[in-house]
Amino acid sequence: MITLGIETSCDETSCAVLEGLHEIRSNVVFSSILKHKPFGGVVPEIASRYCLEQIEVVFRQAIKKAGVKISDLDLIAVTRGPGLIGSLLVGVAFAKALAYRLKIPVIGVNHLEAHLSANFIGRKEPEQYIGLLVSGGHTSLSHHKKGKMKMLGSTVDDAVGEAFDKVAKMMGLGFPGGPVIDRLAKQGNAGAFRFTRPKQDNRYDFSFSGIKTAVLHLIQQELKAKGYPVNRGLADNPVVFDSRFIADMCASFQRACVSWLIEKTSEAARQLKTYAVVVGGGVSANSELRANLNRAAVDRQWELFIPPLALTNDNAAMIARRGAELYRQGHRSKMTLSPDPNLEPG
Ligand code: KG4
Ligand code: ZN
Repeated sequence: MITLGIETSCDETSCAVLEGLHEIRSNVVFSSILKHKPFGGVVPEIASRYCLEQIEVVFRQAIKKAGVKISDLDLIAVTRGPGLIGSLLVGVAFAKALAYRLKIPVIGVNHLEAHLSANFIGRKEPEQYIGLLVSGGHTSLSHHKKGKMKMLGSTVDDAVGEAFDKVAKMMGLGFPGGPVIDRLAKQGNAGAFRFTRPKQDNRYDFSFSGIKTAVLHLIQQELKAKGYPVNRGLADNPVVFDSRFIADMCASFQRACVSWLIEKTSEAARQLKTYAVVVGGGVSANSELRANLNRAAVDRQWELFIPPLALTNDNAAMIARRGAELYRQGHRSKMTLSPDPNLEPG
């Protein structure tokens, strides 16, 4: 079975061709991220315009790279949500029109579930696992058993990727913040600043807004010490911070986030006696998170799944995989399929 995956939930426009459940024949990703950089975050209107402009080009490239004909497609899987409504509409409309033209089924996919499914391309899905989702818009822990998902906890405020992006912005490091913090943290001292671990009523919930505010206070102290006026606008001028301060802040912030994520995951694995851990989402590209999860997996004897780097960020191969899985389980979408910007997993 040949599945075309389509992903347009945010700033990426991606199409992929998946053969069966395991063979990626092509996975073309176009990102409009450079167009958003001057604004310090994704501008929805710009994102959707680029999706509209690029979707056909990306689709044709994916077909060509895969070495298939359009008429070879058996199924179309498309991101239904969550995401930006304008971008989602482009993918869903394109998918439905193509499915109608080719007389093949279309299936709407949850973007968050697809991030976890990316791990099962080329690897057998365990019967039972703990899912850790770490993306720009979501952070959650879930328990999966025989295809059924139970949400254990999620962030009560910012997502972890969002915290990386905001902290980077405060220090004038540009957007997106995750990759730059990851890089700079390697030169810093992770013990330079200590952050209080947030406490939640539900032990599996996360919170990242406290650490963001703590970083802001430390930045303001640093500005004061250097005789600069204390206001957020100054963060647009990284020249005022010395490189040691920035590297130490990146390392300390990253260490705290990574250790909280791993502690909660370990707690869930222990409590639920589930020793397969599946990680997904853009932040799973983080080198410290990957290294420490690998270490935890050895210590705690987990079977660990982290996607290869090419599948950590938003891409259509994961959408195709999730769609193909759902199709095999008997799911189909109707031609009335519509995007849902607030779609929840499960
Ligand atoms: O999953 P994703 O591509 O998009 C959403 O569905 O949200 O995740 C994007 C997020 C951004 O917040 C970005 O800063 C973060 O993933 N990210 C990273 C790294 N690479 C991307 N965060 C930490 N370390 C990285 N290396
Ligand atoms: Zn994503």
